[in-house]
Amino acid sequence: MPGTVEDVDAPSASDVLRRCRELVRPALVDAVGRLHPWTGEMAAYALGWSDTAGTPEPGGSEGKGVRQALALLGAEAVGADVACAVPGAVAVELVHTFSLLHDDVMDADALRRRRPAVWKAYGTGPAVLAGDALLARAVTGLAGTPGDHAAAAVRRLCDALNDLVAGQAEDLRFEHRPWDGPGAVGPEEYRSMAEGKTGALLGCALALGAVLGGAPEPTVAALDRGGRHLGLAFQAVDDILGIWGDPATTGKPVHADLHRGKKTHPVLAALAGGSRAARELGTLLASSRPTDGAAAERVASLVEEAGGRAATRGEARRHLDAARDALRATPLTRTAARELDVLFAGLADRVM
Ligand code: IPE
Ligand code: MG
Ligand code: MG
Repeated sequence: MPGTVEDVDAPSASDVLRRCRELVRPALVDAVGRLHPWTGEMAAYALGWSDTAGTPEPGGSEGKGVRQALALLGAEAVGADVACAVPGAVAVELVHTFSLLHDDVMDADALRRRRPAVWKAYGTGPAVLAGDALLARAVTGLAGTPGDHAAAAVRRLCDALNDLVAGQAEDLRFEHRPWDGPGAVGPEEYRSMAEGKTGALLGCALALGAVLGGAPEPTVAALDRGGRHLGLAFQAVDDILGIWGDPATTGKPVHADLHRGKKTHPVLAALAGGSRAARELGTLLASSRPTDGAAAERVASLVEEAGGRAATRGEARRHLDAARDALRATPLTRTAARELDVLFAGLADRVM
């Protein structure tokens, strides 16, 4: 049926993501086409559609499109036609792309999706500007959504943006906090940072679909909560991949978080363990940042030995369960509930 995500017997997470990408693509192309040609070129590069010469690069380095899929499924889950959620899907995908452009500048990460980050390819100033352009376009596009829900949708997106920026602020400030002692980052502070930088937009994506589909507030709130827990699971997995991932698979540098003193879940959990490995890890981190490959390898193996990797896997699983519980607590259409379940499992399975 046109305008719906087809119901098939056993859709995989990649089937769901692909179908949603296809439904959103024309509107996303249109949105990028409205940018100034230069920022549009950088946006097309960031989205994996073209190379730095602006030459189309089909199948290049596109993202998974998780956020756009969540927006469509959020609408479908409340019994609305997925077409009504397309402006929300475009907005969250543009905001995500903006946040990655700026994040790679903040984190000084030179690689994204197996290619030079936009700031490496075009320069820092242009990358910041391209991020600004994407953000402005996201809000403008959502504000122009036909029907009665545009204002509520924009408000939700702006709330998520405020949370995302606050999360990024905490993430950056934590780099300068000690690993232990009175100034150490506690579990609740980590959680608030991760929920802000990653959970808020995932929650917003699901919630926007429901808002645009005309759902009542309790349903919107349940979807937002589910998406935030998904984000926390997603960030836990991302933290694991930042230490033990293969750059050939993740397309991002490994050990960058360790080099920068990022307060990631596996390291914090390892230090909280109190074992011999935890004490050695604490001493090592207090003496200097692991700035070279060998030092980072040593930190990674102590984190593993002290149980940090297993603890973070557990954290991801708990948040995945909480995400599912949040969705189960509200009536959703059967097809969308099943697709969301498949998608959630696929995302947390990135390392498990
Ligand atoms: C990114 O957080 C969060 C935002 C872009 C808002 P990270 O810095 O932990 O993510 P990666 O590892 O660079 O993708
Ligand atoms: Mg980063
Ligand atoms: Mg970051």
